[in-house]
Amino acid sequence: MSSRDAIGVFDSGLGGLTAVKEFLRVLPNEKIIYFGDTGRVPYGTRSRDTIRKYAFQDAQFLLSHNVKMVVAACGTVSSVAGDLLREKLAVPYTGVVNPTAYTAVRVTKNRRVGIIGTAATVNSHSYKLRLQKLNPEIKVFEQACPLFVPLVENGIIDPRDVITQSVVARYLDPLRDQGIDTLILGCTHFPILREAISDFMGEKVRLIDSGLETAVYAAKVLREQDLLSDNPNEQTPEFFVSDTPDGFKNVAGLFLGRDMEHTVTQIDIEQY
Ligand code: DGL
Repeated sequence: MSSRDAIGVFDSGLGGLTAVKEFLRVLPNEKIIYFGDTGRVPYGTRSRDTIRKYAFQDAQFLLSHNVKMVVAACGTVSSVAGDLLREKLAVPYTGVVNPTAYTAVRVTKNRRVGIIGTAATVNSHSYKLRLQKLNPEIKVFEQACPLFVPLVENGIIDPRDVITQSVVARYLDPLRDQGIDTLILGCTHFPILREAISDFMGEKVRLIDSGLETAVYAAKVLREQDLLSDNPNEQTPEFFVSDTPDGFKNVAGLFLGRDMEHTVTQIDIEQY
């Protein structure tokens, strides 16, 4: 199989692997080429210009593998550089904002929706604008949760861990008082904290995972453009990172929810 058949997925780091997990479930016949910019993570605290420059380089790297679609599995990139990628790339592109907002609008009953993400995502108001475009009656409550990313990257994710619990409470307390029935996990790192978030918000609040919604949307785009793979065998993903791949296997297992055969290669992203 040539990599022209692959879907290119990227993130600022390893958070996008939570989306890859859903792609492997929703599109088991597709080959995934993943790039994690581990040498430059985090993006969420950087300027708009820097995020756009990095995002464009990341997409160029994937295109150098002749991918048939590019997916920004990163709330920050989708929020700050989505317009640039949609305009400049010669293959279909999707980020995580639009598919996720669409699902939130469908599932909310009381039209009170919360959104959590990085500082860059929340400051862009990308989700809020999209949600209110889809339904102007929706009331949106936004909360940046910058410490969630280092918690996840450092594996402090146990819902019984007092550090996890107190960081979750610190950010989500204001949201819990707003009577939301739907909460968008607007950063691809956050599904790793799903249990802790759900314990705090209570079972009545539905959590929307941007990775799953994006995988379902990508499947729709590929089907419409007749680009779906007809290979019936499970494909082995290929992973690329911009810092040392040491330790990738353990972290990848956590994010992907399983150990799987894969290759991981370090590349110099500044070349793109
Ligand atoms: N995974 C990124 C996102 O979805 C967050 C990590 C970062 O700040 O780069 O926004």
